[in-house]
Amino acid sequence: MSQQLGRLSRRGFLVGASAIATTGAISFFGLKGDRAQASVNAAANHAGTIPFWGIHQPGIVTPEVAAALVVALDVTARSPAELTGLFQTLTQRINYLMTGGRLEPLDPRYPPSGSGILGASFAADNLTVTVSAGASLFDDRYGLAALRPKHLTEMPKFPNDRLDAALCHGDLLLQFCANHNETNIHALRDILKQLSGLVVLRWQITGFQQPDADAHPRRTTVRNLLGFKDGTANLNSQDSRLMNRLVWVQRESGEPPWAIGGSYQVVRIIRMFVEFWDRTALDEQEEIMGRSRDTGAPLGYSHEEDIPNYAKDPKGQKIPLDAHIRLANPRTPATEANRILRKGFHYSRGIDQAGQLDMGLLFIAFQQDVQRGFESVQNRLNGEPLEEYIKPIGGGYFFTLPGVANQDGYLAQSLLEAV
Ligand code: HEM
Repeated sequence: MSQQLGRLSRRGFLVGASAIATTGAISFFGLKGDRAQASVNAAANHAGTIPFWGIHQPGIVTPEVAAALVVALDVTARSPAELTGLFQTLTQRINYLMTGGRLEPLDPRYPPSGSGILGASFAADNLTVTVSAGASLFDDRYGLAALRPKHLTEMPKFPNDRLDAALCHGDLLLQFCANHNETNIHALRDILKQLSGLVVLRWQITGFQQPDADAHPRRTTVRNLLGFKDGTANLNSQDSRLMNRLVWVQRESGEPPWAIGGSYQVVRIIRMFVEFWDRTALDEQEEIMGRSRDTGAPLGYSHEEDIPNYAKDPKGQKIPLDAHIRLANPRTPATEANRILRKGFHYSRGIDQAGQLDMGLLFIAFQQDVQRGFESVQNRLNGEPLEEYIKPIGGGYFFTLPGVANQDGYLAQSLLEAV
């Protein structure tokens, strides 16, 4: 699954970012009236820097990058005050890391101020760090139980899942995205050092993709490890009205007020049986997905962007009734509200005990309501023919905290102050 960010490629984003720097244009994300976000966008001083401050966290509607690192943590803070300190430090470090800069020289009798893996100074490199909370953070440790987002539960097990407990859930989830793996690792190590004693690592997975890999006269879509273009029919993340309707929690969403501006994040680590897939006939592969492998067009159509008309194909003669795209989005008025913002990466973890390639999809999705979004889509997909070739093995449900509007604030402030 690729993070197909609307119609904006990474190359387009970089051009856009430098245009902002020179013209001072203020509404990069199209978030009308969102002054805090806009002023910071205008202040982005060079391409490659994604603003941290804003009503939503970065890393959700920000353009495709090549490298991801998803890290789940458990919190070991011993009091609400320590938890507040954790989020304050996290906020300050993320802003520092996303801005880029120099490592502060320290007395050499002490450990240096950073790992140094990027040298004495480091670039922003389009880094984003996105912080989400798992249902377990809202237990009785910090008095947060009454403030749990309405739909936040531990991720259930779906029929085709074979979940590895060592790859599931967590109190916090950090999603690092950047142009390079080293930037993500540099940021993770900095944060772990600063949060020493307050968090422990639970699981992590590295994701990668090659944005703009598949040259196309008009647009490009990343292919997943099954060889299919993935992200074609994704939501246009640059459409702020659509994002407000389907992705960001709103005042009228019925959530605790502190959660407004946040979003539900689903992570699924989905193993692909690629050797088996590679021995499957092309016709069958295409019927399973519902699209042409070469062009990405829905079966029976010519172009990737063509919108399948399922009403005109009630028996599934063009696109089988159980094709992945048809089940995922039947394109009916009733299923419109189930649409989700997908953002995916490949993963590769070597070889399993049976001598098979251990690789697959690091599936990430954002939505305003995890039940109305991911869960409804997944429940329609349960039993799909694609299941023979995939096996979800980990992940979790999380709630992405609202953004931090300006330098006076910190992540989770609205939550902690509501206690
Ligand atoms: C390894 C597992 C998966 C693979 C290989 C896969 C692959 C694809 C491909 C190739 C497409 C067509 C291109 C596109 O519009 O993006 C697609 C579409 C889609 N997939 Fe998946 N997918 C996987 C898992 C999932 C999961 C777990 C969900 C959500 C529960 C999901 C939801 C969707 C949705 C909503 C669409 C768009 C359908 C449309 O609007 O026409 N996919 N997927």
